[in-house]
Amino acid sequence: MYDLIRPLLFALDAETAHGLTLYASDVAWRSNLSGLINKPPADLPVTVFGIRFPNPVGLAAGLDKNGEHLDGLAAMGFGFVEIGTVTPRPQPGNDKPRMFRLPNHQAIINRLGFNNGGIDALVRNVEKASFKSVLGINIGKNKDTPNERATDDYLLCLERAYPLASYVTVNISSPNTQGLRDLQEEETLRRFIGTLRDAQERLASQHGKRKPMLLKIAPDLSETELDAIAEVLVASGIDGVICTNTTVDRDRVAGDPHANETGGLSGKPLFAKSTAVVRGMKARVGDRLPIIGVGGILDGDDAAEKLQSGASLVQVYSGLVYRGPRLINEAVAEIRRRGTLA
Ligand code: FNR
Repeated sequence: MYDLIRPLLFALDAETAHGLTLYASDVAWRSNLSGLINKPPADLPVTVFGIRFPNPVGLAAGLDKNGEHLDGLAAMGFGFVEIGTVTPRPQPGNDKPRMFRLPNHQAIINRLGFNNGGIDALVRNVEKASFKSVLGINIGKNKDTPNERATDDYLLCLERAYPLASYVTVNISSPNTQGLRDLQEEETLRRFIGTLRDAQERLASQHGKRKPMLLKIAPDLSETELDAIAEVLVASGIDGVICTNTTVDRDRVAGDPHANETGGLSGKPLFAKSTAVVRGMKARVGDRLPIIGVGGILDGDDAAEKLQSGASLVQVYSGLVYRGPRLINEAVAEIRRRGTLA
């Protein structure tokens, strides 16, 4: 089915195609026709940070920023869906065009800049949805909030997202919000995560239920930076880490007409780099901190390799654009075949 419609979608501008695909998944769900888009895989359950996932293949953050399409997306067969990044107040993001396909590389460059309807709108959308599966809510800061007050933005989003989320992801790794990735610096990160961890424990007693909190990191980190982040994360008692967000590196797409667009590169050219971060993080944290591996998964082998490199779960985004929802089934099938689940 996706093979038939892909040329039509690729004839449109990337952001229009994106909106249309999400709309189609909603219509299919409401008409009970999601099976036509994709037949979800049989369960391959795994328990990570105390949550039981029906299968280890999730949707990465950024596709459904406002949680408006949860039911349509869930019907495609994901083991979990992460929505966001959401910020406290609505914001338009950067000027268009801000999303580019690099089909020769099965890649995307985006500089959306956290365009979203704000945390209140996201909460209303989630409350309206029938979705009952595992839900990650990915939180960030508004563009006009200075880094000195970034913690306040994250605290506000954490508090609002907490009752609805299965887990919350703290995103400090988007290249499209100026200065955001500076929060990955060791001492800044120690204070920042410490404050959020205190809030997490407070919310756990308030709601009578502990929800895991994860940090999502960039792929563009040196070995020394990775050492520091791993040490801070383990010491903080955070529940897990997502490796990785998009990259600012263009080495693997040099010469492409869009190679010099500002933004984060995702898809196939990111695979080796983000998988190296999974491997590097696993070598540092061992079994103390579960890892979600994301970046450049285009087929079942890629998904299985992320797990073999140390991830307990995987997420996909760009692969969905190039391969359609059958990627979910291929990933689950290959992981099942290799028996790679932790
Ligand atoms: C993203 N990604 C992303 N990540 C995040 O934490 N918050 C976000 O809002 C977004 N937004 C976003 C928009 C677009 C258009 C893309 C392509 C990606 C990053 C995404 O979740 C993932 O980490 C990377 O894209 C790497 O995975 P893939 O795409 O190579 O499978």
